[in-house]
Amino acid sequence: MNLKKIVIAIDGYSACGKSTTAKQVANVLGYRYIDSGAMYRAVTLQFLDRHVALTNPREVSRVLEETNITFNLNSQKESETFLNGLNVEKKIRSMRVSEMVSQVSTLKEVRDAMVDLQRKMGREKGVVMDGRDIGTTVFPHAELKIFMTADMLVRAFRRQRELLEKKQLVDLDEVMENLVQRDRIDTTRSESPLRQAPDATVIDTTYITLDEQVDEVVRLALSRMI
Ligand code: DC
Repeated sequence: MNLKKIVIAIDGYSACGKSTTAKQVANVLGYRYIDSGAMYRAVTLQFLDRHVALTNPREVSRVLEETNITFNLNSQKESETFLNGLNVEKKIRSMRVSEMVSQVSTLKEVRDAMVDLQRKMGREKGVVMDGRDIGTTVFPHAELKIFMTADMLVRAFRRQRELLEKKQLVDLDEVMENLVQRDRIDTTRSESPLRQAPDATVIDTTYITLDEQVDEVVRLALSRMI
């Protein structure tokens, strides 16, 4: 059977399991996984390193023009983020970047540049992209849209464990505070805020396993591919 290539958009709050799910769904379907949050994180790292004044649109635009973000597969076939040719996968997950990324993501210049790049990356379809505005702004005609949620405490625990696996010891309170802040900024910004698209399927991951999340998305995807 000839299956149609589709775009799968996975949006939702921070640390709900979007990227872990998206990666595995992409593996099962032989699709490309694109982590749009990593792109905003890479821009944030660049702005921090260059001491960009976020209130200066000209400076923001100038540095954005010198920002080249790409994804490359490592030896384990996992996608890693590169900023101007350098592997920044580890750096962009640090708390230093997490604490700034939502603020940087409110800037129109940044959003326009990233949305443009994301649309180019998804042009050929056969992609799973996760983020905050993929089903609403980047690919409003995506064949499958998922909106993920989970209880705050579960999200904070999962994120803390993830950081610990990367040898970063952060208090649960600090992790939770960061998630609350990011939810607030991501949902209230004026440029494409985090919203559930009306035609998105909601998946609450609080009480389900990763395998169950992946199975559910793959099942829905297959139903759109025939
Ligand atoms: O998915 P993440 O937690 O790595 O994303 C980091 C931040 O990037 C998130 O707090 C808001 C921003 N972001 C965004 O504004 N739009 C997207 N499509 C993806 C991420």
